[in-house]
Amino acid sequence: MNNFTFYSPTYFAFGKGTEKEAGRLIKRFGGSKVLIHYGGGSVIRSGLLDRVKESLNKENIEYIELGGVKPNPRSGLVYEGIDLCRKEGIDFILAVGGGSVIDSAKAIAAGAMYEGDFWDFFEGKPIEKALPVGTVLTIAAAGSEGSGDTVITKEEGMLKRGAGSEVLRPKFSILNPELTQTLPAYQTACGAVDIMAHVFERYFTNTKEVEITDRLCEAILLTMIKEVPRVIKDPNNYEARANIMWAGMVAHNNLVGVGREQDWASHGIEHELSALYDVAHGAGLAVVFPAWMTYVMKHDINRFAQIAVRVWGCHMNFANPEETAREGIERFKQFLKSIGMPTTFKELGAREEDIPLMVEKLGLGENGTIGSFVRLNSKDVEN
Ligand code: NZQ
Ligand code: ZN
Repeated sequence: MNNFTFYSPTYFAFGKGTEKEAGRLIKRFGGSKVLIHYGGGSVIRSGLLDRVKESLNKENIEYIELGGVKPNPRSGLVYEGIDLCRKEGIDFILAVGGGSVIDSAKAIAAGAMYEGDFWDFFEGKPIEKALPVGTVLTIAAAGSEGSGDTVITKEEGMLKRGAGSEVLRPKFSILNPELTQTLPAYQTACGAVDIMAHVFERYFTNTKEVEITDRLCEAILLTMIKEVPRVIKDPNNYEARANIMWAGMVAHNNLVGVGREQDWASHGIEHELSALYDVAHGAGLAVVFPAWMTYVMKHDINRFAQIAVRVWGCHMNFANPEETAREGIERFKQFLKSIGMPTTFKELGAREEDIPLMVEKLGLGENGTIGSFVRLNSKDVEN
């Protein structure tokens, strides 16, 4: 196991009705004038936004609103949010929605405390200061409720890039699984794939002797395999929703990734798909991940055979571990299909002729690579 530091200071309020705590928690974390940030309207239709505002009113907290965050959130609204925060003297941002809303809120939070262009952070400038952010999560997926990361798309050139900093971890996150019951099955499944992908990015490592994090990763994957079909069948299954919601948090706050090298090539490749076609991140991952696994499998057949046996319930073929590894990937694909996810470019609506453009936008150039389990160059990514 490698040396590591782990600091995950987000306060979580989990369970039924917890959105009523929003006002109290904002006060506890020092907010007095709040920007409530939300998406395309699901929180209005569900009545959640009204309940959240009521909770702020109860604590006499002033607020203004900025809605309209799109999935794969755009820089245009971030600039608008930054201006608004400065003009109105905002000291706390409350994101009410999914990963896109939370990421947009984090970008605004960092940009509002910085004199230059916030996009600098997405080109590598470290983020040192940010306004405090709280979240009321409505979809189990990106894990942004417990992570220090944000992913934004710049309209000019449709560049989708990530930035991260410990200062971006939400001060609090409210996780009420009931709020996810209004999700369409497709969005639920996309979220589930993203959660599993966050585990895979950490599971496929070259670091040896990482039993504890291996086993934690496997526990999350087994939970997803059990619970996702239950919510696809019955969207109102609270207990299954609850397990998935917490899985989404622990899959990405890095608890299961510490002390080990992580990969992240598949996420990088997927971001080019969702940037170009505006598809859901999880759907893109459903196409990229099985392909990536098949491509890199031979680098460590034993690790792929291990996950096949421990997670996908395959029988270990000691004479031919590659067969076991392949069967594991096949079962993963079948699982994706069973929950209505695409597994091919065609099903996703992606075009083969766009591959060179996506590879170019990834920006690896002649000698660059992506990923660490296996370092992929531009040619590998194209393959
Ligand atoms: O905009 P509204 O109307 O709210 O509708 C949303 C949106 O259309 C809808 N939705 C959310 N909660 C709902 C609901 N509809 C009905 N009932 C509910 N309870 O679902 C759609 C998708 O929402 P979005 O926020 O885009 O989903 P998700 O949480 O999957 O976030 C995806 C974004 O997160 C990024 C992705 O790249 C993508 O841009 N990621 C962020 C990460 C991070 N910050 O740590 C890590 C991830 O790997 C990921 O890259
Ligand atoms: Zn993801």
